[in-house]
Amino acid sequence: MHAGRRGGNIKDPTMSTTQTDPTTLVNPLGDELRSTRTAKPCVLVIFGATGDLTKRKLVPSLMGLSKDGLLPPGFAVVGFARRPWSDESFRNELADGVRLFGRTDTVAAFDAVADAFSYHAADFADAEGYRDLKRKLDLIDQKRGTSGNRIFYLATPPSAYSSILSNLAASGLSNEQEGRFARIIVEKPFGHDLPTAEALNNQLREGFRERQVFRIDHYLGKETVQNILALRFANGIFEPLWNEKFVDHVQLTVAESIGVGSRGAYFEESGIIRDMIQNHLMQVLSLVAMEPPAALTADAVRDEKVKVLKAIRSFRPEDVDRATVRAQYASALFGGEEAKGYREETGVPAASTTETYAAVRLQVENWRWSGTPFYLRAGKRLARRVTEVAIQFKQPPLHLFEGGRPVQPNVLLLRIQPDEGVALRFGAKVPGPDMRIRDVRMDFRYGAAFGGESADAYERLLLDAMVGDGTLFARRDEVEEAWRIVDSIVSGWKQSARKPESYPAGTWGPEAADKLLGTCRTWRKP
Ligand code: BG6
Repeated sequence: MHAGRRGGNIKDPTMSTTQTDPTTLVNPLGDELRSTRTAKPCVLVIFGATGDLTKRKLVPSLMGLSKDGLLPPGFAVVGFARRPWSDESFRNELADGVRLFGRTDTVAAFDAVADAFSYHAADFADAEGYRDLKRKLDLIDQKRGTSGNRIFYLATPPSAYSSILSNLAASGLSNEQEGRFARIIVEKPFGHDLPTAEALNNQLREGFRERQVFRIDHYLGKETVQNILALRFANGIFEPLWNEKFVDHVQLTVAESIGVGSRGAYFEESGIIRDMIQNHLMQVLSLVAMEPPAALTADAVRDEKVKVLKAIRSFRPEDVDRATVRAQYASALFGGEEAKGYREETGVPAASTTETYAAVRLQVENWRWSGTPFYLRAGKRLARRVTEVAIQFKQPPLHLFEGGRPVQPNVLLLRIQPDEGVALRFGAKVPGPDMRIRDVRMDFRYGAAFGGESADAYERLLLDAMVGDGTLFARRDEVEEAWRIVDSIVSGWKQSARKPESYPAGTWGPEAADKLLGTCRTWRKP
């Protein structure tokens, strides 16, 4: 059983009584993953443990796992960071985080295991700090039965990765001996471009083998993203239509209503293309476009995903302006308040040209998709928060109704968040004497069907790293292929005379993005 919605009864609205049907509760990735769902005892060492990620996501997620009985019996966490905190101040900070960001009833779960959390103050570049860490971990093994298994989590700014990796390798902490495991989870951003991602991958390889490395992309931990695999490969009716013969185009939208907030300085370096498109959107795109894998194993799934990316050609600089649009949000009245423009955000230079919105037309050049464009868009300060994949089908060959006027095309909508679910849009006859057609929807909603409280994506991913299952993590070649595509866009932008467009905060982006779709297609307004 997967990490989310445990305990939620299956509600079938067509049945008069609530039933629990165990076959619908299985992990969407199937039996092979389910049979390995038991995490072995281990210590999780979090580098950069005083940061936001640990407090907001990692520890609340661990407590979600604990509440659901999914943490191994021998388990401990060591926070490794520079600040001179004590175990007690570390625990207090984490308790705060669990209270603010944890699922229901996780505060009690933290209280019960708080003494399994300890703090290790050291500089990331200081070899002595790692020798001390090793001694500490050996003691924890004796005290807490963690069996010599380690997971290292890089939750620091990427500038610290190199020091940490060389020290982990030099101290022998990355070695796996006598059936003990040593794994490393790497947070995004994974490099800044292809050369830096390759350099990071090469450095990882000095201490770890590929199967020890877990490159995190939290979108893959979302239930609805995993459900793309279930929808496509657990059902017989979609796959025959899932190709260029029937699909007119695909729209993938990740819209956020928030601005960059206090992350202006970080965002200046990344822009939306590196922050969202290189990782989250490319991952979702590969799940939507991939061929059925031979099995639901980590490598079989990732082999198919990487083939999708390989089938997308790098852009030539002269093609980038025609295939992409980039823009920045400008100040506007949004939600009853004056929202700042991007250039007015803290840490952002007044003349910044960094994009907070990007739309890209991609072509997957293979037999399945040749001729069917994929439109990707992501942006900050858009009208509302929504992530969705819309598969728009071709029109019927002959328009019989309403005087031969084309009806609305069928759309299969995968709603990733919020309001998670799947909807199918089709035309139906309006009751009455005329043969009029109107758009209606068949709608599946996760909340209504499964109930229960949804687990955070990090719960699933932390559990998978403990289990040793890399299916929902990006492999080296996936990350590098995604960078190859993104680098070609960024390089086209650098050479282009066209500056980023502007869009008022709270809208659906710049008008120029409409042109990207040509005259017969329009962006959905979710
Ligand atoms: C992160 C980005 O990876 O994803 C953020 O760095 C973004 O800029 C966030 O806000 C969005 O995640 P979610 O899960 O809220 O869609």
